[in-house]
Amino acid sequence: MTSSSKQFKRTLVTSALPYANGYIHLGHIAGAYLPADIYVRYKRLCGDQVLYIGGSDEHGVPITLSALRENITPREVIDRYHVANEEAFNGLGISYDIYGRTSWPLHVDTTQQFFVRLEESGHIHTETVRLWYSPKLERFLPDRYVTGECPQCGYTGANGDECEQCGAQYTAEDLLNPRANVPGDDSTPVLRDSRHWFLDLPDFAEQLEAWLDSHPEWRPNVRGIAYGWVHDLRARCITRDTDWGIPIPVDDEDAKSKRIYVWFDAPIGYVTNTRQWGLDQGLGEDAWKDWWKDRGTRMVHFIGKDNVPFHAVIFPAMLMGQEGYITADQVVGNEYLNIFNRQTGKSEKGSKSKGNMISVRWALDQLSADCLRYYLCAIAPESKDSDFDWDEFMGRYNGELCDVVGNFVHRALTMAVKNFEQAVPPEGALDEEDQAMLDVISVQRDAVAEALENFRFRQALERFIDLGRKANVYFDQKQPWVTRKTDLERTATTLHVCCQVVHGLCHLMAPFLPEGARKLAAILNIELPAGGPDGGENIWKRAGDFLPAGSPLQKPEVLFPKLDPDAVAALAEIHEQGGAL
Ligand code: MF3
Ligand code: ZN
Repeated sequence: MTSSSKQFKRTLVTSALPYANGYIHLGHIAGAYLPADIYVRYKRLCGDQVLYIGGSDEHGVPITLSALRENITPREVIDRYHVANEEAFNGLGISYDIYGRTSWPLHVDTTQQFFVRLEESGHIHTETVRLWYSPKLERFLPDRYVTGECPQCGYTGANGDECEQCGAQYTAEDLLNPRANVPGDDSTPVLRDSRHWFLDLPDFAEQLEAWLDSHPEWRPNVRGIAYGWVHDLRARCITRDTDWGIPIPVDDEDAKSKRIYVWFDAPIGYVTNTRQWGLDQGLGEDAWKDWWKDRGTRMVHFIGKDNVPFHAVIFPAMLMGQEGYITADQVVGNEYLNIFNRQTGKSEKGSKSKGNMISVRWALDQLSADCLRYYLCAIAPESKDSDFDWDEFMGRYNGELCDVVGNFVHRALTMAVKNFEQAVPPEGALDEEDQAMLDVISVQRDAVAEALENFRFRQALERFIDLGRKANVYFDQKQPWVTRKTDLERTATTLHVCCQVVHGLCHLMAPFLPEGARKLAAILNIELPAGGPDGGENIWKRAGDFLPAGSPLQKPEVLFPKLDPDAVAALAEIHEQGGAL
């Protein structure tokens, strides 16, 4: 069974809110952002009602630890990286309807409403637990503030209550050989009592399981992780000993020195940002409810694999505990993008300490958004990890996008412009090959759409390139550069057909390569007006329509400039030396 978007009235798309404690890098983009953007661009072209929500995740230990390390305030950390990341997303053409912040005052309200409702309906209780405490700093050491040995797998970089290596969850007490992990403190912590608020996840077990059962179409990696959790649900601590976060809305002395846990408030950020979007648009205070409380809305989350438990178990439970909220219809969980190390010939995980990451802002200083989007979509880590490899990057962009699609568009348009008065040439009698070529356009359009509807972005991109391949075969068969001297009518027909393919390609590339599509649309004198939250006309369908003979054309410019091998080698070298951050 494949879930079809047809039964829904509108689509709400979210991408994970990245922590505002560092520059987003290409690994983030390939998983949770570019596929989401391609999907919403496609939906907008179809004229569907679609809203795309993003923003910064600005609470929690990732922020406060960064502040300590950089010797600045948490506020300075989030202001710096929120602005930088919003700019980076813009530069790449990630087309959010809003890029919000969990530090917005409105978010306090949304989060506290969620908490209060869960508490009032009996899904929250308090417990006194033993947590690591630094006598030296006179403070508790939540999450990453302490490291030690995982009680399950022995990994030595495990944190307070979970192990990144094996995914184990444990109580702080079980961590072996704990050490404080804070600038200026690596002393041995002690255990101390602290009272905390817990969300009773087991209350939602049946509902969660039924919901997962109703989505057999999800990727196996997501389903596997989600079922693993649902079959072993425990109450989860949703508060922390910190002053950086959202105040706990209870009248209780113990709550004063604590805040709501970042993973409770972060996904609620999707709701807050939708609320803020409605206000910004002047649609009134309740506009967000259409998107969150109407069964006609289809919600789709795009995330990395590490976020699956939160989006496929915990946040859905939080939503089930509210009044009238929908839950996601799809959770698109992605694997990781690793880095291919040319020196060792091996693939390695991107990591801050290795300095092997490629930040979006650095990449955009060197390369066009379209060439990055092309390669990152081509290698999107959908069902398994993939590698960023500079040689492959150049090979695929030059060899596929430039040589196949760019080259065809350029050859066809140049000939039409030169020989037929800068307009779509008149069609004569169509032979079988002409007709077959024309038919292929809508076949490929529907094939691309089918792949996109089912979240197979790599395949969708291949199907777009395929249209270019078929067009080149046709062009070479028809040899318009030869017939031009002998049979002008034949040449006109060939180029007429080619112009229709170019028109089709222009539509098909739009979700993937917005800049190239914009340039090409200008050459063809067509518009690609994408709808938005209110929907619009179905422009995507028009990929299969034909430009009338005589339609004016602009002189073609190069859509996708080829990458120079020496320049790419130089970039690879900078990256290898840790200079791509
Ligand atoms: N900041 C988290 C991360 O980078 C993702 C938060 S997604 C949200 O892993 F839904 F919780 F916002
Ligand atoms: Zn472990």
